[in-house]
Amino acid sequence: MLETIKLSKRFKDKKVVDEVNLYLNKGESVGLLGPNGAGKSTTISMISSLLRPTSGDVKLDGKSTIKNSSEIRNVLGVVPQEIALYEELSAYENLKFFGRAYRVKKAILEKRIQEVLEIVGLKDRQKELIKTFSGGMKRRINIAAALLHHPQILILDEPTVGIDPQSRNHILETVQQLNETRGMTVLYTSHYMEEVEQLCNRVYIMDHGNIIASGTKDELLSILSSEDTILVELSNRSDTLMETIKALPKVLQVEETSEGFRIIARKGKSLLNDLVHAADKEGIQILNYQVEIPSLEDVFLHLTGKTLRD
Ligand SMILES: Nc1ncnc2c1ncn2[C@@H]1O[C@H](COP(=O)(O)OP(=O)(O)OP(=O)(O)O)[C@@H](O)[C@H]1O
Ligand SMILES: [Mg+2]
Repeated sequence: MLETIKLSKRFKDKKVVDEVNLYLNKGESVGLLGPNGAGKSTTISMISSLLRPTSGDVKLDGKSTIKNSSEIRNVLGVVPQEIALYEELSAYENLKFFGRAYRVKKAILEKRIQEVLEIVGLKDRQKELIKTFSGGMKRRINIAAALLHHPQILILDEPTVGIDPQSRNHILETVQQLNETRGMTVLYTSHYMEEVEQLCNRVYIMDHGNIIASGTKDELLSILSSEDTILVELSNRSDTLMETIKALPKVLQVEETSEGFRIIARKGKSLLNDLVHAADKEGIQILNYQVEIPSLEDVFLHLTGKTLRD
């Protein structure tokens, strides 16, 4: 339905988005996951034709949208990262303003406003001024605004950052319902693996402007669960021991820490015997051995060789 082809953005000398290929099939819920500065918002701005790509293309049903942006604007509902509402107006008045901006016909606008307020659960607060709303409620009004013109694709840019847990749950449930019961196609941007796990059937992981991994939830979780991180505390360290550990068949990566080594290996628990044996030979004692539950951090470490910057 929607597809980016080698989509790139350069600001002066800095490549912020680097030949990104991603696609959305109709009815899918897709996650775009990445740390601060990965290039997520820039990618979304280019998809929604708010920002012109340096190179590459965005296609809607096979047709380029770069030169003709009106069609994609009708199809997309975008919830931006920054809240853009008029503080001195009521929720209702804000939605009326956005409805006109999206060119929703006057005759149906009233009905649409009530419909989207119902979806985000703020119908009874519509007369109140935005400035009296919590951050989470404002975010929900932003979502409502993006739904007014009945978009086929909803794009949300980190909609749950910095808001209360109740609003966060409400937003997650709303997005899930829009996808599951109304068949809306969703692109959901987040820092949080657990949100994407709950909402999305496919995920792209982005870092430094590149898609560094993609796949269904199961495919990505299998990267996570097939590898363990083991923290080993040692009486002292030696280069020989490090080389011996590196050479073990299950070991993928070894790094020094202040106490010993951080090892990434397949089936970490079964590594202990080999480690004890190798350390014994060097006369080194293992003081502590801890297998960490795999996390997104570990995927990043594995894929990029460094920790998730946040
Ligand atoms: N208009 C601009 N001019 C110059 N650099 C920019 C501009 N917009 C974004 N950048 C840079 O591009 C990089 C990617 O920014 P972007 O906002 O797309 O990241 P992000 O993944 O959305 O991050 P976050 O999670 O913090 O929202 C950052 O290093 C940012 O400083
Ligand atoms: Mg962003």
